[in-house]
Amino acid sequence: MYELRDVRKVFDDGSVALDGMSLTVGAGEHVAFIGPSGAGKTTLFRILNLTLRPTSGMLRLNGTDVATLSGADLRRARTSIGTIYQQHNLVGRLRVVHNVLAGNLGRWSTLTALGSLLRPRATDEAARALAQVGIPEKLYARTDELSGGQQQRVAIARVLIQDPDVVLADEPVSSVDPTLAVSIVTLLRDISNESRKTLLMNLHSVELALTYFPRILGIREGRVHFDLSPDKVSPEMLEELYAGHGDERGELAALGEGTNSFGKACRPLPGFDR
Ligand SMILES: Nc1ncnc2c1ncn2[C@@H]1O[C@H](COP(=O)(O)OP(=O)(O)OP(=O)(O)O)[C@@H](O)[C@H]1O
Ligand SMILES: [Mg+2]
Repeated sequence: MYELRDVRKVFDDGSVALDGMSLTVGAGEHVAFIGPSGAGKTTLFRILNLTLRPTSGMLRLNGTDVATLSGADLRRARTSIGTIYQQHNLVGRLRVVHNVLAGNLGRWSTLTALGSLLRPRATDEAARALAQVGIPEKLYARTDELSGGQQQRVAIARVLIQDPDVVLADEPVSSVDPTLAVSIVTLLRDISNESRKTLLMNLHSVELALTYFPRILGIREGRVHFDLSPDKVSPEMLEELYAGHGDERGELAALGEGTNSFGKACRPLPGFDR
């Protein structure tokens, strides 16, 4: 699905967000990305969803070098990738049905899209997607009257309508409570499994990553720090990954029994090799 070779991203102000990143992701794989704030995870996802171009290095999507894509080919490639953001990018004033059907915008003409604001097209399709994410009764609710978790479900329903080959979820559960976080992560995983989509997720919660993903990429300073199955990720590796990021280490230690030695405190997780 994706092949990156030595990808660098340097922003105009000189910040080096990606500093020689190489990785491959096969079709249908599920991968969690973890790492400290500023490591380059969001930048990587923006490169993977073709909204940012690498400064140097190579990115192939399904074997095609994306640097060669432009115009209609680039638009088509973009519609094969669905992105879910932390702040779900919904229009609050609109009814849920419009936000869900916005998943079609890559395929619809501007006229069809504008017309759909007056009279929603494909309402059945939107209703089905909402049923899949567990809130069928919210089709005509105003989006800004939903809870944070329900709005995140609307964002997922929008991606279902888009029906991409790849789902990129950038911190999709940072703003919801832990129980909801589990249900949203498992929903995304199950939906991706059913329709054989590739699923890549940035997660601040190491516990969620290790529990629900078969492959964990630790990202630090714009590079791949490790690329392992969760049972091979040790507390020492996590400590090294987050070294120098005190607040996040604190968050990790809170997973354990509350001693100040993070390595010892980290409670064993399912499939977690101590
Ligand atoms: N548009 C931009 N212009 C300049 N620098 C940027 C821009 N976007 C990101 N950066 C810088 O690139 C680096 C990587 O940022 P990025 O947002 O990719 O990190 P992240 O791993 O997603 O962090 P977080 O976990 O906090 O979301 C940071 O140093 C950041 O300040
Ligand atoms: Mg980020």
